[in-house]
Amino acid sequence: MSPPGLSPLTRRALASASGDYMARDLVELQRMQQRLQEGQIGHIWRFDVGSNTDGFSPLARDLFDSGFLAEMLDTYLREYPDNHYELLRRGLARRYDVEPECFVLGAGLESIIDHIARAFLSPGEECLIPIPNFSLYEDYSLRQGATVRTVPMQTLGPWSEADLQRLEAAMQAHHPRLLWISHPINPLGCALPMTVLERLVTLAAATGTAVVIDEAYGEYIDPDEAPCSCARLLAAHPHLMVLRTFSKIYGLPNLRVGVFMSANPEYRRGVLAYRPTFPLSWFSLYTCQLALLDDDWLIEARSRLSRRKPLVEAGLDALTGFERLPSQVNTVMFRHRRISATEVQHRLADHGVLVANLDQVSGIQNQGWLRMTVRSEADNAVFLAACAAISTDD
Ligand SMILES: Cc1ncc(COP(=O)(O)O)c(C=O)c1O
Repeated sequence: MSPPGLSPLTRRALASASGDYMARDLVELQRMQQRLQEGQIGHIWRFDVGSNTDGFSPLARDLFDSGFLAEMLDTYLREYPDNHYELLRRGLARRYDVEPECFVLGAGLESIIDHIARAFLSPGEECLIPIPNFSLYEDYSLRQGATVRTVPMQTLGPWSEADLQRLEAAMQAHHPRLLWISHPINPLGCALPMTVLERLVTLAAATGTAVVIDEAYGEYIDPDEAPCSCARLLAAHPHLMVLRTFSKIYGLPNLRVGVFMSANPEYRRGVLAYRPTFPLSWFSLYTCQLALLDDDWLIEARSRLSRRKPLVEAGLDALTGFERLPSQVNTVMFRHRRISATEVQHRLADHGVLVANLDQVSGIQNQGWLRMTVRSEADNAVFLAACAAISTDD
């Protein structure tokens, strides 16, 4: 007898969801690792990742350098972690001026996005995504068997009034269960005015739509004094969910700590229903607690970016054949006007430079767009030299 097959929902998910998140970049990375072993390239520079490549808070690093960490690990690694995350939730509550019970922590926003899709979407139900946007919203919604309605935004930057009105019209016409938005918008790297987000959240209350505002790159547009987050809208809007992560500016993507906030206890219970009981290790929690105390590191990261990004942008602008979009975060979308994204990605990989290929992102498919993460000045010079080699060959 043949083994039992997968469930109909899983079979449907396999047929519809792309599973393409980072897939091309990781295949390219594998090729590069092979070439590194064979001595064909000397180093791999990861410009594909989106996280702060200068690393994490010196405050947390100091702890690693002390003997204290070994002692703590010896104590805590034997035990299951605390799954109330009281201290970290209190730290987050102070940062976002939201009650500690509003937070649910999960193993990266990737898993939180999965839990939200499961908690809100049943087969055949609709969710709405303005595109281009973060590709996982589409993938995880499709895995639930949901119908994904995308609204292509004409402006590859902050949405125009016409874009916004088309999005609003789609909400009014279709009453989707869920609206997914990244803010700042990934992969574009641009921010929207708070008034626009508030307008959408208000309309969503009328159309019966729950709203996710994913602020994975939010710290890059936060002022130094305090976060400028849609968390401030939570108390008045029980249909709103706001997300942040320790993977980007905090430089801790390996810890896999994602933050979900909602003032609605039912929403929190829904997400918790799908979250594993112990998604985070003591080490992850403790390091994030320390990172949260170190505002200076965020200020420093923004200040370094404000020096480095203009050099990258000017470097790209000076190269024939290349064009790029303005960005308010640590990533820059760029393309070559005549060479495909896959070809540019390969050619940069020949120089040890890995960038993200955006060719499968809905709304900008096959338009040649790639995305680079701003790194140190020396690394950015390597990136620009690799682009210059393409520009000269062309
Ligand atoms: C908009 C957005 N949301 C969520 C994520 C996932 O982040 P995490 O590392 O917390 O899973 C990313 C990562 O690239 C992202 O860009």
